[in-house]
Amino acid sequence: MSVEIEQSCTRSGDLIQLVGLSHKSFIFTLADGGEFHTHRGVIKHDDLIGKPWGIQIFSHNGSPFFLLQPSLPDILKNTKRATQIMYPKEIGYILIQLGVRPGTRIIEAGTGSGSFTTALAYAIGDNGKIYSYEAKEANQKIAIRGLEKLGLTKNIEFKVRDIREGFDETGVDSVFLDVANPYDYLKQVKLALKPGGYFASILPTMNQVTSLLLALRRNDFAFIDVCDISQRFYKIEPSRFRPTDRMIAHTGYLIFARSVTIDHDLADQKLLKEIGVLGIEDEKPSDMEDFVEAVEFIEEK
Ligand SMILES: C[S@@+](CC[C@H](N)C(=O)[O-])C[C@H]1O[C@@H](n2cnc3c(N)ncnc32)[C@H](O)[C@@H]1O
Repeated sequence: MSVEIEQSCTRSGDLIQLVGLSHKSFIFTLADGGEFHTHRGVIKHDDLIGKPWGIQIFSHNGSPFFLLQPSLPDILKNTKRATQIMYPKEIGYILIQLGVRPGTRIIEAGTGSGSFTTALAYAIGDNGKIYSYEAKEANQKIAIRGLEKLGLTKNIEFKVRDIREGFDETGVDSVFLDVANPYDYLKQVKLALKPGGYFASILPTMNQVTSLLLALRRNDFAFIDVCDISQRFYKIEPSRFRPTDRMIAHTGYLIFARSVTIDHDLADQKLLKEIGVLGIEDEKPSDMEDFVEAVEFIEEK
């Protein structure tokens, strides 16, 4: 299997995508002598091998298809689901915020269906490394099978483990947690991350986010950001250009932070507040005493 983009014509072993009527899409690997069967007819692999990308082809009964190299979003959409998977709109932003680039060493948990793992494998290049942890072996097996089909497992170490037990690695560049309770594992994350390393998580509900915010503060994570990403598609008819009727309203909140080292006795309290390490719950009793005194003084006057 190959997802290389250099050649202009298909070769045996290439991952291809056929897109037919009603946007019906099929992604599979070309093999000499193979046949692809669909309810829209049969297509011989040999009739596709050596053809230029982007052309229209027909099945034995005349159904039309376009012959394409699958894009990463198409591959992600095609992920066999063992769990909820992540959407390209979030994946793209997370990769940028986590600083993922060729050579990055990153831990993720859980592997789930492997959709984020797939995008990571595209991004880390030949010299990067992914350590993918998953508590449920059955889920990880499905993810591994999908990634093997894409030929993307070379730089991934899969581990079946509850991350409560910690990570084997230290000094990694980034950690990404897609689990329901990331706030319970920040001590483990801290030990694995290099100083200044990047942390991110995705959570569906606000109460999970607030628990994570408090835990990030308690574990000396700073530069904390929370956002969500809305994406609206448009009907591409120039004479009646308008939004499509349906939209995915909510997927998840994204939480980002950096692991920092703080000497709490010496650190400047104002700066700690500014970078999100201290919040109102951390205000010293002396601050509150000053505040109460000031109020009493005003009331007396
Ligand atoms: C929402 S899925 C992850 C989806 C994945 N990011 C993807 O893009 O396909 C969450 C996964 O985390 C795993 N998980 C939950 N808690 C865990 C833990 N403490 N340690 C390891 N894996 C865990 C679950 O079994 C599940 O497979």
